[in-house]
Amino acid sequence: MTELTAARAAYGALASAGLKLNLQRGQPSDADLDLSNDLLCAAGPSDTTLDGIDLRNYPGGVTGLPSARALFGRYLGVDAANVVVWNNSSLELQALVLSFALLHGVRGSQQGWVHERPRMIVTVPGYDRHFLMLETLGFELVGVGMTADGPDVDSIATLATSDPRVKGVLFVPTYANPGGETISAEAAQRLAGMDTAAPDFAIFADDAYRAHHLGEPVETVNFVELCATAGHPDRAFVFGSTSKITFAGAGLGFVATSVDNVKMLATYLGAQSIGPNKVEQARHVRFLEAYPGGIDGLMRAHAALVAPKFAAVDEALAAELGTDGSYATWTTPRGGYFSSLFTTAPIASRVVELADAAGVSLTPAGATYPGGIDPENRNIRLAPTRPPVAEVRTAMQVAAACIRLATAEYRLPRA
Ligand SMILES: Cc1ncc(COP(=O)(O)O)c(C=O)c1O
Repeated sequence: MTELTAARAAYGALASAGLKLNLQRGQPSDADLDLSNDLLCAAGPSDTTLDGIDLRNYPGGVTGLPSARALFGRYLGVDAANVVVWNNSSLELQALVLSFALLHGVRGSQQGWVHERPRMIVTVPGYDRHFLMLETLGFELVGVGMTADGPDVDSIATLATSDPRVKGVLFVPTYANPGGETISAEAAQRLAGMDTAAPDFAIFADDAYRAHHLGEPVETVNFVELCATAGHPDRAFVFGSTSKITFAGAGLGFVATSVDNVKMLATYLGAQSIGPNKVEQARHVRFLEAYPGGIDGLMRAHAALVAPKFAAVDEALAAELGTDGSYATWTTPRGGYFSSLFTTAPIASRVVELADAAGVSLTPAGATYPGGIDPENRNIRLAPTRPPVAEVRTAMQVAAACIRLATAEYRLPRA
């Protein structure tokens, strides 16, 4: 039997099994969400105040409740004074900060960035929603590669030192989306201290997975502190949220930055809102402070649910495809929500198409590149957190069968 005939037979058997599995988006499982159900009753009818502030009325400030700022300041390794806690989405907060920068600039800017045809460095492969947000806001994206130590800082330095239109870099510092890489202390220090052509160059670090370890925690970096030490105190904006801690899309987004930047953000946010939702902030403070071990304790409970799914991805792919790279290579993250698979042949879109026809929904090929186009057609993001372990394993067996078939098709002699 030829490689193609065997691959067709294996794929056909799986495709006729009537599967309906989804590994497309990074969502918590119901069991993950259940860990935080007490959040729903973390505030009763008598819990009308926190920090001496009436949660039901307007007054309270635009930067968030003091207890919430302190809690997420500890989470990000900064003082409460360095934090703005906003509403339910860190992506929205990123878009707000970037919009303010476009309209008014940041500290050190001569004018709003929109007047300078701004360019933003992003990592590729990267997070599709970052690309969509930046493109929608009018930024020109410049991709740099990812290394095991995080973003390729040499390429960032080349771009940032030579081009004043390069206003910053947006990336995921811990357990990146999609590859799970974490920036090293050395790379972070270089970024913090880098000489840049733009005087108002900024680091936008989306630390969505800062505490999302699967086992032994990696060392995380503190860009606010590093930038202050390097003499660029206003350079870092570090975002986080509870979307993958408590409830996805129904939690809190926050940003850590210099105290002067907090004042700047308070001015702009205060012009469009009297303040964030204090009731949600109080519920989160009460729930997370009461959880055994706090946020770290909750994250350990998540890890117990999530780690076996990542192990299933690794085991199933290795069993079906081998580990010599003849069909594919993939990352084995130590945390976060995703792993990143590279097919050896340029067949990612065909693999996603075959998987879809077999009832397994994978992240669309190209989604991890700006404009949705993977120039090599090789990268597929794997998002194993939501389905049960057995489904993750089956989905990976299907993905592997699709990779084998698409590779065999690709290797056919062409007329
Ligand atoms: C890197 C990254 N940032 C942000 C988000 C979304 O965060 P939020 O729900 O706080 O907007 C995600 C969700 O997958 C993500 O992967």
